[in-house]
Amino acid sequence: MGVALTTSLHNMSSTILGVEHLTRKFGGLVAVNDISFDVKKGEVLSIVGPNGAGKTTLFNLITGIDRADAGSVMFDGQDVTGFAPQRLAKMGIGRTFQNIRLFKNLNALENVMIGRVARTRSGLFDALTCSALDRRERTEMIEQAEALLDWVGVGANRFRMPSELPYGDQRRVEIARALALEPKLLILDEPTAGMVAREAQEVIKLIGRLRDAGVTLMLIEHNMNVVMSTSDRVVVISFGQKIAEGTPAEIRADERVIEAYLGVDEDEPTAATAS
Ligand SMILES: Nc1ncnc2c1ncn2[C@@H]1O[C@H](COP(=O)(O)OP(=O)(O)OP(=O)(O)O)[C@@H](O)[C@H]1O
Ligand SMILES: [Mg+2]
Repeated sequence: MGVALTTSLHNMSSTILGVEHLTRKFGGLVAVNDISFDVKKGEVLSIVGPNGAGKTTLFNLITGIDRADAGSVMFDGQDVTGFAPQRLAKMGIGRTFQNIRLFKNLNALENVMIGRVARTRSGLFDALTCSALDRRERTEMIEQAEALLDWVGVGANRFRMPSELPYGDQRRVEIARALALEPKLLILDEPTAGMVAREAQEVIKLIGRLRDAGVTLMLIEHNMNVVMSTSDRVVVISFGQKIAEGTPAEIRADERVIEAYLGVDEDEPTAATAS
């Protein structure tokens, strides 16, 4: 699809997420300073910026893990400012974490099934035991989790514990868990952080497939090659403030961005930026 057509489609499509004047202070530090932007349905929006710019804090505000001091978050036509993470998950915000968070004592399959729990009637206990109450739901949950693990390429390792899996596979399990929610918006915080180049490449391919499948994505990513090749739009933040927003081509040519970020970080290997 040509760039012009993509752009016009996005202009027609509706907004799934609206961030308005979000602000978060930690003591004297304004980690997120009056940031506003929209995410349209079906687009891939990347958030980039130097270490400590406020990217993860911004994601934490959007996903309800942290509370804003000011500003609002609209999701799917509703003001969700201050909503708890579980409630937002139920509404369709899925996410992965900068430092992978999988349940250590559950295998890959069970970890993905957990992602489904937010949507199902029965609780976590029902999901993980053979509760007769909800056997049908549980069967569906297993089938869906297996299909998702196949889709992300970890199907053969579904009975392995997270610690037995390479880092790249752990990340894929985490993405499968987020997808189990059937999210309307999927938020990935540095999905290639800490990976060797080959692992990162696999995850990048997976992001491309998510995008092709029509998943609306928000991405924090240090690897500018990933950002430029996968994103429809890019928002650049530095010291808590939005300093630029535009297409990858516009961002690449933006003087403020080059000064604040690109000039410094562009050629660093992904693994070196892990934190
Ligand atoms: N809970 C907290 N309490 C105090 N300061 C915090 C807290 N969380 C983040 N910060 C500070 O807020 C700023 C933004 O941090 P944040 O983790 O959002 O940056 P980031 O852009 O995700 O960085 P990185 O690229 O290293 O992941 C940093 O200066 C950080 O030290
Ligand atoms: Mg971060």
